[in-house]
Amino acid sequence: MQTADQTEVNTTDVTGNAVIRVEDVHKYYELGETRVHALRGVSVEIRRGEFVAIMGASGSGKSTFMNMLGCLDRPSSGRYLLEGIDVSKHDKRALAQIRNQKIGFVFQGFNLLARTTALENTELPTLYTKIANEERQRRAVEALTLVGLASRMEHFPSQMSGGQQQRVAVARALVNRPSILLADEPTGNLDSRTSVEIMEVFQDLNDKGLTIVLVTHEHDVAQFAKRVMVFRDGKIRKDEAVLNRPKASEVLKTLPTLED
Ligand SMILES: Nc1ncnc2c1ncn2[C@@H]1O[C@H](COP(=O)(O)OP(=O)(O)O)[C@@H](O)[C@H]1O
Ligand SMILES: [Mg+2]
Repeated sequence: MQTADQTEVNTTDVTGNAVIRVEDVHKYYELGETRVHALRGVSVEIRRGEFVAIMGASGSGKSTFMNMLGCLDRPSSGRYLLEGIDVSKHDKRALAQIRNQKIGFVFQGFNLLARTTALENTELPTLYTKIANEERQRRAVEALTLVGLASRMEHFPSQMSGGQQQRVAVARALVNRPSILLADEPTGNLDSRTSVEIMEVFQDLNDKGLTIVLVTHEHDVAQFAKRVMVFRDGKIRKDEAVLNRPKASEVLKTLPTLED
């Protein structure tokens, strides 16, 4: 996607190159009498500018892993370093603060507020920061421009297609200029052409330097990433670079256009 505004995504490098460093992480969930061992010794490094797709059967630990990367939950043992900071021992409050500054989330359901414009939806995460009022809107406009929605800022979710709504969700995830974008099944509710359009946005953001980790069930979607990891039974069973990865913008030229 070519956007008119070539605003830079946050690429400040503070630790050399590992944005994410996970060391022998285990995660247990206590469920009454039983104990579920959801992550069983995961070690991995993700460098700045990478674009990783995570695949694996249901129950293999993908969401548990993403929740840890996103500082929504902590490992039971092992370490997680985010930009060189060991966040595995942080309490809830400290995690929330780090999350706000460094992580952008995109989910399968777009989770937009219905009676709120694209611009206001995008501004929302800035309300939990110290960003000055004039700056909030400027950042939101910048983020919407990055995802190609500069002309839809005053639209409500009901006036936009699923793909456009997901792009607003991506803009909202970017507005605090995170170091990483995490997406759990971002194309799960979208038809195949629209899925490729979202991957075009992701490739474009990644080309501008943003580090992206996404979970997907679809092999075709995973191929747009630079690296694919496969989880099985709480472990990474496969971790490979994608060879000959397609450019989403080129693939779109070969797909029929649906009417708006
Ligand atoms: N909050 C939870 N409490 C108890 N067990 C959980 C919880 N979340 C996930 N699990 C269990 O941990 C394992 C991994 O789940 P999950 O990370 O959601 O897998 P995936 O995202 O790959 O489907 C599964 O056995 C699941 O039932
Ligand atoms: Mg899951």
